[in-house]
Amino acid sequence: MAEMRVHRALAQAGVASRRAAEKLVAEGRVTVNGDVAMVGQVVRDADVITVDGRRVHAEPIRTYMLNKPMGVVSTASDPEGRPTVLDGLPDDVRLYPIGRLDIDTTGLLLITNDGDLAHRLMHPRSKVPKTYEALVDGRVSSTAVRALRNGIELDDGPTQPARVEVLDRQTPGGTWLRIEITEGRNRQVRRMCEALGHRVRRLVRTRYGGLGLGRLQRGEHRLLTSAELARLAAQAGMAR
Ligand code: URA
Repeated sequence: MAEMRVHRALAQAGVASRRAAEKLVAEGRVTVNGDVAMVGQVVRDADVITVDGRRVHAEPIRTYMLNKPMGVVSTASDPEGRPTVLDGLPDDVRLYPIGRLDIDTTGLLLITNDGDLAHRLMHPRSKVPKTYEALVDGRVSSTAVRALRNGIELDDGPTQPARVEVLDRQTPGGTWLRIEITEGRNRQVRRMCEALGHRVRRLVRTRYGGLGLGRLQRGEHRLLTSAELARLAAQAGMAR
């Protein structure tokens, strides 16, 4: 049975951020099994928690890895009715993707109902490494590779240093690159390459926060292992 501090349980149930939840506890607005909760109090799944007299229903926390296929949007619901990354995942808890991949980007996407984990991983300060393999138009010169490594001036500011290597120059009319970035700006890899005149033809995310796709096939999903969750929590600077 999962045990955790009451403010974390509240944050996981989506009541408030951990800090705000801790304040609710300190203000005496939270009860556990009918008694006013103390800051730092440990709770279990079976405990009845209320905030301002209202019962909080904690969901079991789940984090999945999806190998995202093409043509699928990275949102919980799409006004245009296109398929989403949540189609095919269990719908007994309210899940959402950690960050986004473009509709035509494939590969590793994490999907969770752990608000705290998602928030921290997406925060720019956590600098989570994300690795992409990109097939770009044309032959990429070593000057261009250096430029990608050092930072590219985009319309929303310069990019942070990136790890970049050429994987393959044999593809007709194109070059495969491996690019690792620690930011998560909109269409960042595509814009970095396009700024140098190399349109991205295919983009695959192969790693996120130290986790890789392993044997997960395109379109498949699986729950993260506890070792993977621990690695992510460390990456996000969370003590668990
Ligand atoms: N960079 C992009 O350009 N697209 C993605 O989907 C992810 C990173």
